[in-house]
Amino acid sequence: MNKKLTSGFLWGGATAANQCEGAWQEGGKGIGLIDIVPYGPDRMPVAKGKKVMLDIDDKHQYPSHEAIDFFHHFKEDIAMFAEMGFKCYRMSLSWTRIFPNGDEDLPNEQGLAFYDQVFDECLKYEIEPLVTVCHFDLPVHLIKKFGAWKNRSMIDYYIKFCKTIFKRYKNKVKYWITFNEINMLNHLPFTSCGLVLENNEDEKHAKYLCAHHELIASAKAVKLAHEIMPDCMVGCMLAGGSFYPYTCAPADVWQAKQTERGNYFFIDVQSRGEYPNYALKWLEKDGIELDWQANDKEILKEGTVDFIGFSYYCSRCDTADSEITLNRMAANAFRTVRNPYLKASEWGWQIDPLGLRITLNDLYDRYQKPLFIVENGLGAKDTITKDGSIEDDYRISYMKEHIKSMIDAVVEDGVPLMGYTMWSPIDLVSASTGEMSKRYGVIYVDKDDSGKGTLIRKRKKSFYWYKKVIETNGEVLD
Ligand code: BG6
Repeated sequence: MNKKLTSGFLWGGATAANQCEGAWQEGGKGIGLIDIVPYGPDRMPVAKGKKVMLDIDDKHQYPSHEAIDFFHHFKEDIAMFAEMGFKCYRMSLSWTRIFPNGDEDLPNEQGLAFYDQVFDECLKYEIEPLVTVCHFDLPVHLIKKFGAWKNRSMIDYYIKFCKTIFKRYKNKVKYWITFNEINMLNHLPFTSCGLVLENNEDEKHAKYLCAHHELIASAKAVKLAHEIMPDCMVGCMLAGGSFYPYTCAPADVWQAKQTERGNYFFIDVQSRGEYPNYALKWLEKDGIELDWQANDKEILKEGTVDFIGFSYYCSRCDTADSEITLNRMAANAFRTVRNPYLKASEWGWQIDPLGLRITLNDLYDRYQKPLFIVENGLGAKDTITKDGSIEDDYRISYMKEHIKSMIDAVVEDGVPLMGYTMWSPIDLVSASTGEMSKRYGVIYVDKDDSGKGTLIRKRKKSFYWYKKVIETNGEVLD
Protein backbone atom coordinates (compact mmCIF):
# COMPACT_ATOMS: atom_id res chain seq x y z
CA MET A 1 0.00 0.00 0.00
CA ASN A 2 1.29 3.46 -0.86
CA LYS A 3 1.29 6.22 1.72
CA LYS A 4 -1.65 8.61 1.66
CA LEU A 5 -2.98 11.67 3.42
CA THR A 6 -6.04 11.96 5.65
CA SER A 7 -9.43 12.90 4.33
CA GLY A 8 -9.49 16.50 5.64
CA PHE A 9 -6.47 17.45 3.52
CA LEU A 10 -7.19 20.52 1.38
CA TRP A 11 -6.27 19.47 -2.16
CA GLY A 12 -6.79 22.07 -4.82
CA GLY A 13 -5.33 24.79 -6.97
CA ALA A 14 -4.28 28.42 -6.79
CA THR A 15 -4.63 31.44 -9.06
CA ALA A 16 -4.33 35.21 -8.70
CA ALA A 17 -6.84 37.83 -9.84
CA ASN A 18 -4.30 39.86 -11.78
CA GLN A 19 -3.20 36.83 -13.82
CA CYS A 20 -6.58 35.35 -14.67
CA GLU A 21 -9.55 37.70 -14.31
CA GLY A 22 -9.14 40.11 -17.23
CA ALA A 23 -12.16 42.45 -17.60
CA TRP A 24 -9.86 45.19 -16.44
CA GLN A 25 -12.39 47.92 -17.02
CA GLU A 26 -15.61 46.10 -16.27
CA GLY A 27 -17.84 46.25 -13.23
CA GLY A 28 -16.46 49.60 -12.12
CA LYS A 29 -12.90 48.28 -11.70
CA GLY A 30 -10.07 50.80 -11.36
CA ILE A 31 -6.55 50.43 -12.75
CA GLY A 32 -4.42 48.03 -10.78
CA LEU A 33 -0.65 47.76 -10.69
CA ILE A 34 -0.46 44.82 -13.09
CA ASP A 35 -2.71 46.59 -15.63
CA ILE A 36 0.17 48.94 -16.44
CA VAL A 37 2.77 46.15 -16.65
CA PRO A 38 3.26 45.23 -20.32
CA TYR A 39 4.38 42.08 -22.07
CA GLY A 40 7.92 42.23 -23.43
CA PRO A 41 11.25 43.77 -22.45
CA ASP A 42 9.63 46.70 -20.61
CA ARG A 43 7.76 44.37 -18.26
CA MET A 44 9.61 45.26 -15.08
CA PRO A 45 9.79 49.05 -15.21
CA VAL A 46 11.28 49.60 -11.83
CA ALA A 47 14.98 50.12 -11.50
CA LYS A 48 16.36 53.48 -10.56
CA GLY A 49 17.35 55.46 -13.62
CA LYS A 50 14.99 53.48 -15.85
CA LYS A 51 11.82 55.12 -17.08
CA VAL A 52 8.96 54.04 -14.89
CA MET A 53 5.76 53.73 -16.86
CA LEU A 54 2.76 54.39 -14.71
CA ASP A 55 0.43 54.89 -17.65
CA ILE A 56 -0.89 52.71 -20.40
CA ASP A 57 0.16 53.39 -23.97
CA ASP A 58 -0.81 51.92 -27.32
CA LYS A 59 2.69 50.63 -28.12
CA HIS A 60 2.52 47.77 -25.63
CA GLN A 61 0.38 44.73 -25.07
CA TYR A 62 -0.95 44.36 -21.51
CA PRO A 63 -1.67 40.71 -20.75
CA SER A 64 -3.75 41.37 -17.63
CA HIS A 65 -6.38 43.29 -19.56
CA GLU A 66 -8.03 40.16 -20.82
CA ALA A 67 -5.86 37.47 -19.20
CA ILE A 68 -7.89 34.24 -19.45
CA ASP A 69 -11.12 36.13 -18.81
CA PHE A 70 -11.94 34.27 -15.60
CA PHE A 71 -14.31 37.18 -14.93
CA HIS A 72 -16.70 35.76 -17.51
CA HIS A 73 -15.66 32.09 -17.33
CA PHE A 74 -15.53 31.51 -13.58
CA LYS A 75 -18.56 29.18 -13.48
CA GLU A 76 -17.09 26.94 -16.16
CA ASP A 77 -13.65 27.01 -14.51
CA ILE A 78 -14.86 26.26 -11.01
CA ALA A 79 -17.02 23.44 -12.40
CA MET A 80 -13.84 21.87 -13.80
CA PHE A 81 -12.06 22.32 -10.45
CA ALA A 82 -15.02 20.54 -8.85
CA GLU A 83 -14.82 17.76 -11.43
CA MET A 84 -11.26 17.11 -10.24
CA GLY A 85 -12.57 16.94 -6.68
CA PHE A 86 -10.97 20.15 -5.38
CA LYS A 87 -11.47 20.73 -1.69
CA CYS A 88 -9.90 24.18 -1.83
CA TYR A 89 -9.49 26.99 -4.32
CA ARG A 90 -6.88 29.63 -3.55
CA MET A 91 -7.60 32.91 -5.31
CA SER A 92 -6.97 36.58 -4.72
CA LEU A 93 -9.21 39.62 -4.78
CA SER A 94 -8.55 42.49 -7.11
CA TRP A 95 -8.21 45.53 -4.84
CA THR A 96 -9.35 47.86 -7.64
CA ARG A 97 -12.60 45.95 -8.20
CA ILE A 98 -13.55 46.84 -4.65
CA PHE A 99 -11.81 50.19 -4.18
CA PRO A 100 -11.05 51.40 -7.74
CA ASN A 101 -8.66 54.12 -6.54
CA GLY A 102 -7.97 52.76 -3.09
CA ASP A 103 -8.91 55.91 -1.20
CA GLU A 104 -12.69 56.07 -1.73
CA ASP A 105 -15.01 56.26 1.26
CA LEU A 106 -17.29 53.51 0.01
CA PRO A 107 -16.51 50.26 -1.82
CA ASN A 108 -17.71 49.40 -5.30
CA GLU A 109 -20.76 47.17 -4.85
CA GLN A 110 -20.37 45.58 -8.29
CA GLY A 111 -16.91 44.34 -7.36
CA LEU A 112 -18.10 42.92 -4.06
CA ALA A 113 -21.03 41.21 -5.78
CA PHE A 114 -18.69 39.56 -8.29
CA TYR A 115 -16.72 37.83 -5.54
CA ASP A 116 -19.97 36.84 -3.81
CA GLN A 117 -20.81 34.93 -6.95
CA VAL A 118 -17.37 33.33 -7.15
CA PHE A 119 -17.50 32.18 -3.51
CA ASP A 120 -21.07 30.91 -3.91
CA GLU A 121 -19.98 28.90 -6.89
CA CYS A 122 -17.13 27.34 -4.89
CA LEU A 123 -19.33 26.59 -1.90
CA LYS A 124 -21.93 24.97 -4.16
CA TYR A 125 -19.30 22.28 -4.80
CA GLU A 126 -18.03 22.28 -1.20
CA ILE A 127 -14.77 23.91 -2.27
CA GLU A 128 -13.26 26.04 0.51
CA PRO A 129 -12.00 29.38 -0.77
CA LEU A 130 -8.55 30.37 0.47
CA VAL A 131 -8.25 34.08 -0.23
CA THR A 132 -5.12 36.15 -0.67
CA VAL A 133 -5.98 39.75 0.14
CA CYS A 134 -3.13 41.17 -1.87
CA HIS A 135 -1.41 39.19 -4.63
CA PHE A 136 0.96 41.54 -6.51
CA ASP A 137 -1.83 44.08 -6.68
CA LEU A 138 -2.73 47.60 -5.61
CA PRO A 139 -4.47 50.62 -7.10
CA VAL A 140 -2.20 52.65 -9.41
CA HIS A 141 -3.79 55.76 -7.94
CA LEU A 142 -2.14 54.94 -4.58
CA ILE A 143 1.25 54.60 -6.29
CA LYS A 144 0.87 57.97 -7.98
CA LYS A 145 -0.56 59.79 -4.98
CA PHE A 146 1.44 58.30 -2.11
CA GLY A 147 4.32 56.32 -3.55
CA ALA A 148 2.62 53.06 -2.54
CA TRP A 149 3.99 51.08 0.42
CA LYS A 150 6.82 53.52 1.10
CA ASN A 151 4.11 55.67 2.59
CA ARG A 152 2.65 54.75 5.97
CA SER A 153 -0.85 55.81 4.94
CA MET A 154 -1.02 52.61 2.85
CA ILE A 155 -1.64 50.71 6.07
CA ASP A 156 -4.97 52.51 6.54
CA TYR A 157 -6.11 51.93 2.95
CA TYR A 158 -5.17 48.27 3.16
CA ILE A 159 -6.99 47.85 6.47
CA LYS A 160 -10.06 49.56 5.09
CA PHE A 161 -10.01 47.07 2.22
CA CYS A 162 -9.60 44.21 4.71
CA LYS A 163 -12.43 45.40 6.94
CA THR A 164 -14.74 45.61 3.94
CA ILE A 165 -13.99 42.13 2.65
CA PHE A 166 -13.80 40.43 6.06
CA LYS A 167 -17.24 41.78 6.98
CA ARG A 168 -18.74 41.00 3.62
CA TYR A 169 -17.39 37.46 3.23
CA LYS A 170 -17.18 36.33 6.85
CA ASN A 171 -19.74 33.59 6.27
CA LYS A 172 -18.14 32.38 3.06
CA VAL A 173 -14.38 32.46 3.55
CA LYS A 174 -12.55 30.82 6.43
CA TYR A 175 -8.94 30.81 5.18
CA TRP A 176 -7.06 34.02 4.40
CA ILE A 177 -3.54 35.11 3.45
CA THR A 178 -2.54 38.75 3.97
CA PHE A 179 0.15 39.17 1.27
CA ASN A 180 1.34 36.88 -1.49
CA GLU A 181 5.07 36.03 -1.32
CA ILE A 182 5.84 38.98 0.92
CA ASN A 183 9.60 38.32 0.58
CA MET A 184 9.32 38.99 -3.16
CA LEU A 185 9.57 42.63 -2.24
CA ASN A 186 13.33 42.15 -2.33
CA HIS A 187 13.35 40.78 -5.86
CA LEU A 188 10.35 42.27 -7.70
CA PRO A 189 9.83 45.49 -5.76
CA PHE A 190 7.52 47.11 -8.29
CA THR A 191 5.31 44.10 -9.05
CA SER A 192 5.14 43.06 -5.45
CA CYS A 193 4.47 46.41 -3.79
CA GLY A 194 4.54 49.25 -6.31
CA LEU A 195 7.96 50.52 -5.26
CA VAL A 196 9.25 53.22 -7.60
CA LEU A 197 12.64 54.61 -6.66
CA GLU A 198 13.16 58.35 -6.89
CA ASN A 199 16.53 59.72 -7.92
CA ASN A 200 19.06 59.49 -5.09
CA GLU A 201 16.78 57.27 -3.06
CA ASP A 202 18.49 54.48 -1.18
CA GLU A 203 17.06 51.20 -2.46
CA LYS A 204 17.64 49.21 0.71
CA HIS A 205 16.05 51.85 2.88
CA ALA A 206 13.02 52.14 0.59
CA LYS A 207 12.55 48.36 0.59
CA TYR A 208 12.74 48.08 4.37
CA LEU A 209 10.25 50.90 4.72
CA CYS A 210 7.80 49.13 2.41
CA ALA A 211 8.42 45.92 4.32
CA HIS A 212 7.80 47.56 7.69
CA HIS A 213 4.51 49.04 6.52
CA GLU A 214 3.38 45.75 5.00
CA LEU A 215 4.31 43.89 8.18
CA ILE A 216 2.32 46.31 10.35
CA ALA A 217 -0.59 46.11 7.89
CA SER A 218 -0.45 42.32 7.91
CA ALA A 219 -0.46 42.14 11.73
CA LYS A 220 -3.40 44.54 11.94
CA ALA A 221 -5.26 42.49 9.35
CA VAL A 222 -4.71 39.25 11.28
CA LYS A 223 -6.08 40.81 14.47
CA LEU A 224 -9.04 42.29 12.64
CA ALA A 225 -9.82 39.01 10.91
CA HIS A 226 -9.85 37.20 14.25
CA GLU A 227 -12.20 39.82 15.72
CA ILE A 228 -14.62 39.68 12.80
CA MET A 229 -14.33 35.92 12.13
CA PRO A 230 -13.32 34.11 15.35
CA ASP A 231 -13.09 30.75 13.55
CA CYS A 232 -10.97 31.89 10.63
CA MET A 233 -7.32 31.07 10.01
CA VAL A 234 -4.96 33.67 8.60
CA GLY A 235 -1.61 32.85 7.10
CA CYS A 236 1.49 34.51 5.79
CA MET A 237 2.96 33.50 2.44
CA LEU A 238 6.61 32.95 1.61
CA ALA A 239 8.23 32.44 -1.77
CA GLY A 240 9.83 29.32 -0.35
CA GLY A 241 12.63 26.94 -1.19
CA SER A 242 15.50 26.24 1.19
CA PHE A 243 19.00 27.54 0.46
CA TYR A 244 21.78 24.97 0.21
CA PRO A 245 25.43 25.83 0.72
CA TYR A 246 27.31 25.17 -2.53
CA THR A 247 29.90 23.13 -0.59
CA CYS A 248 30.44 22.23 3.06
CA ALA A 249 33.10 24.94 3.38
CA PRO A 250 32.03 26.90 6.46
CA ALA A 251 32.12 30.15 4.47
CA ASP A 252 29.58 28.68 2.02
CA VAL A 253 27.39 27.44 4.86
CA TRP A 254 27.45 30.88 6.44
CA GLN A 255 26.67 32.60 3.13
CA ALA A 256 23.69 30.31 2.51
CA LYS A 257 22.44 30.98 6.03
CA GLN A 258 22.65 34.74 5.58
CA THR A 259 20.81 34.64 2.26
CA GLU A 260 18.20 32.38 3.76
CA ARG A 261 17.67 34.81 6.64
CA GLY A 262 17.05 37.59 4.11
CA ASN A 263 14.33 35.36 2.74
CA TYR A 264 12.82 34.41 6.10
CA PHE A 265 12.96 37.92 7.58
CA PHE A 266 9.38 38.82 6.65
CA ILE A 267 7.67 35.68 7.87
CA ASP A 268 9.91 35.57 10.97
CA VAL A 269 8.14 38.81 11.91
CA GLN A 270 4.69 37.65 10.82
CA SER A 271 5.03 34.39 12.66
CA ARG A 272 6.83 35.46 15.85
CA GLY A 273 5.54 39.02 16.18
CA GLU A 274 8.88 40.79 16.41
CA TYR A 275 11.91 41.69 14.34
CA PRO A 276 14.58 39.00 14.65
CA ASN A 277 17.89 40.11 16.19
CA TYR A 278 19.83 39.49 12.98
CA ALA A 279 17.56 41.92 11.08
CA LEU A 280 17.88 44.59 13.75
CA LYS A 281 21.65 44.27 13.46
CA TRP A 282 21.50 44.55 9.66
CA LEU A 283 19.43 47.71 9.92
CA GLU A 284 21.85 49.15 12.47
CA LYS A 285 24.84 48.30 10.31
CA ASP A 286 23.31 49.91 7.23
CA GLY A 287 22.22 52.96 9.22
CA ILE A 288 18.59 52.38 8.26
CA GLU A 289 16.02 53.97 10.53
CA LEU A 290 12.43 52.90 10.14
CA ASP A 291 9.42 54.97 11.10
CA TRP A 292 8.58 52.99 14.24
CA GLN A 293 5.55 54.37 16.02
CA ALA A 294 4.62 54.02 19.66
CA ASN A 295 2.50 50.88 19.37
CA ASP A 296 4.11 49.17 16.36
CA LYS A 297 5.76 46.53 18.54
CA GLU A 298 2.47 45.72 20.24
CA ILE A 299 0.67 45.53 16.86
CA LEU A 300 3.23 43.02 15.56
CA LYS A 301 2.87 40.90 18.71
CA GLU A 302 -0.92 40.87 18.55
CA GLY A 303 -1.10 39.95 14.89
CA THR A 304 0.88 36.75 14.47
CA VAL A 305 -0.32 34.35 11.80
CA ASP A 306 -2.07 31.02 12.34
CA PHE A 307 -0.33 29.14 9.55
CA ILE A 308 2.64 29.39 7.24
CA GLY A 309 1.68 29.38 3.57
CA PHE A 310 4.43 29.07 0.99
CA SER A 311 5.12 28.52 -2.66
CA TYR A 312 7.69 25.99 -3.74
CA TYR A 313 9.03 25.74 -7.27
CA CYS A 314 12.70 25.06 -6.63
CA SER A 315 15.44 25.06 -4.03
CA ARG A 316 18.29 27.59 -4.11
CA CYS A 317 21.98 27.50 -3.53
CA ASP A 318 24.56 30.04 -2.43
CA THR A 319 28.31 30.32 -2.03
CA ALA A 320 30.95 32.68 -0.71
CA ASP A 321 33.15 31.97 -3.73
CA SER A 322 33.07 35.07 -5.88
CA GLU A 323 33.81 33.15 -9.10
CA ILE A 324 31.09 30.56 -8.69
CA THR A 325 28.69 33.21 -7.53
CA LEU A 326 28.72 34.70 -11.02
CA ASN A 327 27.23 31.54 -12.43
CA ARG A 328 23.68 32.28 -11.41
CA MET A 329 20.34 31.27 -12.83
CA ALA A 330 16.65 31.91 -12.26
CA ALA A 331 14.86 30.41 -9.29
CA ASN A 332 11.51 32.10 -9.53
CA ALA A 333 12.45 35.80 -9.25
CA PHE A 334 15.54 34.87 -7.23
CA ARG A 335 18.97 34.37 -8.75
CA THR A 336 20.54 31.20 -7.46
CA VAL A 337 23.94 29.64 -7.89
CA ARG A 338 23.58 26.72 -10.29
CA ASN A 339 23.25 23.46 -8.41
CA PRO A 340 25.18 20.84 -10.42
CA TYR A 341 22.99 18.02 -9.12
CA LEU A 342 19.72 19.36 -10.52
CA LYS A 343 18.04 19.65 -13.91
CA ALA A 344 16.08 22.74 -14.79
CA SER A 345 12.82 23.63 -16.53
CA GLU A 346 12.82 25.44 -19.87
CA TRP A 347 12.85 28.71 -17.92
CA GLY A 348 15.88 27.62 -15.91
CA TRP A 349 14.06 26.90 -12.63
CA GLN A 350 15.86 23.91 -11.11
CA ILE A 351 13.70 20.91 -10.31
CA ASP A 352 14.19 19.48 -6.83
CA PRO A 353 11.35 17.36 -5.37
CA LEU A 354 13.35 16.35 -2.28
CA GLY A 355 13.89 20.06 -1.72
CA LEU A 356 10.18 20.32 -0.99
CA ARG A 357 10.50 17.83 1.87
CA ILE A 358 13.55 19.71 3.12
CA THR A 359 11.71 23.04 2.94
CA LEU A 360 8.66 21.62 4.74
CA ASN A 361 10.87 20.32 7.55
CA ASP A 362 12.88 23.55 7.75
CA LEU A 363 9.74 25.66 8.00
CA TYR A 364 8.14 23.47 10.64
CA ASP A 365 11.34 23.27 12.69
CA ARG A 366 11.56 27.06 12.57
CA TYR A 367 7.96 28.06 13.27
CA GLN A 368 6.10 25.10 14.79
CA LYS A 369 2.89 26.18 13.06
CA PRO A 370 0.75 24.33 10.53
CA LEU A 371 2.00 24.69 6.97
CA PHE A 372 0.15 25.06 3.69
CA ILE A 373 1.74 24.56 0.25
CA VAL A 374 -0.20 27.22 -1.61
CA GLU A 375 1.74 27.05 -4.91
CA ASN A 376 3.76 24.36 -6.65
CA GLY A 377 3.88 23.49 -10.31
CA LEU A 378 5.79 23.39 -13.56
CA GLY A 379 5.77 26.10 -16.20
CA ALA A 380 6.16 24.35 -19.56
CA LYS A 381 5.19 24.64 -23.22
CA ASP A 382 2.34 22.35 -24.26
CA THR A 383 1.51 21.06 -27.71
CA ILE A 384 -1.86 19.90 -28.89
CA THR A 385 -1.62 16.62 -30.79
CA LYS A 386 -3.51 15.88 -34.00
CA ASP A 387 -6.31 14.19 -32.12
CA GLY A 388 -6.68 17.28 -29.93
CA SER A 389 -5.19 15.82 -26.74
CA ILE A 390 -2.41 17.33 -24.62
CA GLU A 391 -0.02 14.70 -23.31
CA ASP A 392 1.76 16.65 -20.60
CA ASP A 393 3.69 13.78 -19.00
CA TYR A 394 6.47 16.20 -17.94
CA ARG A 395 3.96 18.06 -15.75
CA ILE A 396 2.61 14.82 -14.30
CA SER A 397 6.14 13.69 -13.52
CA TYR A 398 7.02 17.00 -11.81
CA MET A 399 3.85 16.99 -9.71
CA LYS A 400 4.12 13.29 -8.89
CA GLU A 401 7.62 13.60 -7.50
CA HIS A 402 6.75 16.72 -5.49
CA ILE A 403 3.56 15.22 -4.08
CA LYS A 404 5.48 12.07 -3.10
CA SER A 405 7.99 14.19 -1.27
CA MET A 406 5.23 16.16 0.43
CA ILE A 407 3.55 12.95 1.60
CA ASP A 408 6.89 11.74 2.98
CA ALA A 409 7.20 14.95 5.00
CA VAL A 410 3.73 14.42 6.47
CA VAL A 411 3.76 10.65 6.98
CA GLU A 412 7.43 10.03 7.75
CA ASP A 413 8.46 13.31 9.37
CA GLY A 414 5.21 14.33 11.07
CA VAL A 415 4.98 17.78 9.50
CA PRO A 416 1.45 19.19 9.99
CA LEU A 417 0.28 20.21 6.54
CA MET A 418 -3.14 21.74 5.88
CA GLY A 419 -3.23 21.40 2.14
CA TYR A 420 -1.70 21.61 -1.30
CA THR A 421 -2.97 24.01 -3.95
CA MET A 422 -1.08 23.53 -7.20
CA TRP A 423 -0.11 26.53 -9.32
CA SER A 424 -2.13 26.92 -11.38
CA PRO A 425 -4.86 24.43 -12.25
CA ILE A 426 -5.66 26.50 -15.31
CA ASP A 427 -3.19 28.17 -17.71
CA LEU A 428 -2.88 31.87 -16.99
CA VAL A 429 -0.55 34.81 -17.56
CA SER A 430 2.96 34.29 -16.18
CA ALA A 431 3.74 36.81 -13.45
CA SER A 432 7.40 37.20 -14.34
CA THR A 433 7.30 37.14 -18.13
CA GLY A 434 3.70 37.93 -19.08
CA GLU A 435 3.73 34.90 -21.36
CA MET A 436 0.81 32.56 -21.88
CA SER A 437 3.15 29.91 -23.29
CA LYS A 438 4.66 29.32 -19.83
CA ARG A 439 1.79 27.04 -18.94
CA TYR A 440 1.16 25.56 -15.48
CA GLY A 441 -2.37 24.31 -15.94
CA VAL A 442 -3.93 20.91 -15.98
CA ILE A 443 -6.58 22.82 -17.94
CA TYR A 444 -5.40 24.36 -21.22
CA VAL A 445 -6.58 27.79 -22.34
CA ASP A 446 -6.43 28.65 -26.01
CA LYS A 447 -4.50 31.89 -26.00
CA ASP A 448 -1.00 32.80 -27.15
CA ASP A 449 1.67 35.26 -26.08
CA SER A 450 0.46 37.91 -28.49
CA GLY A 451 -2.94 37.81 -26.80
CA LYS A 452 -4.77 35.88 -29.53
CA GLY A 453 -6.96 32.83 -29.02
CA THR A 454 -10.51 31.62 -28.50
CA LEU A 455 -10.14 31.24 -24.71
CA ILE A 456 -11.63 27.76 -25.06
CA ARG A 457 -10.70 25.49 -22.14
CA LYS A 458 -9.46 21.92 -22.62
CA ARG A 459 -8.58 19.15 -20.18
CA LYS A 460 -4.94 17.98 -20.41
CA LYS A 461 -3.77 14.45 -19.54
CA SER A 462 -2.64 15.82 -16.15
CA PHE A 463 -6.24 16.82 -15.40
CA TYR A 464 -7.30 13.19 -15.16
CA TRP A 465 -4.12 12.27 -13.30
CA TYR A 466 -4.61 14.97 -10.63
CA LYS A 467 -8.28 13.97 -10.25
CA LYS A 468 -7.17 10.44 -9.35
CA VAL A 469 -4.54 11.74 -6.92
CA ILE A 470 -7.19 13.78 -5.09
CA GLU A 471 -9.72 10.93 -5.14
CA THR A 472 -7.19 8.61 -3.45
CA ASN A 473 -5.67 11.25 -1.16
CA GLY A 474 -2.32 10.76 -2.81
CA GLU A 475 -2.29 6.97 -2.63
CA VAL A 476 -2.39 6.52 -6.41
CA LEU A 477 0.28 8.60 -8.09
CA ASP A 478 0.94 6.52 -11.21
C1 BG6 B 1 4.81 32.87 -7.77
C2 BG6 B 1 3.67 33.86 -7.81
O1 BG6 B 1 5.98 33.58 -7.56
O2 BG6 B 1 5.12 32.14 -8.88
C3 BG6 B 1 2.70 33.67 -8.94
O3 BG6 B 1 2.99 33.93 -6.58
C4 BG6 B 1 3.45 33.25 -10.18
O4 BG6 B 1 1.97 34.83 -9.11
C5 BG6 B 1 4.17 31.94 -9.91
O5 BG6 B 1 2.65 33.16 -11.31
C6 BG6 B 1 4.90 31.37 -11.10
O6 BG6 B 1 5.75 32.34 -11.64
P1 BG6 B 1 5.71 32.74 -13.18
O7 BG6 B 1 6.57 33.90 -13.27
O8 BG6 B 1 6.16 31.57 -13.92
O9 BG6 B 1 4.26 33.07 -13.46
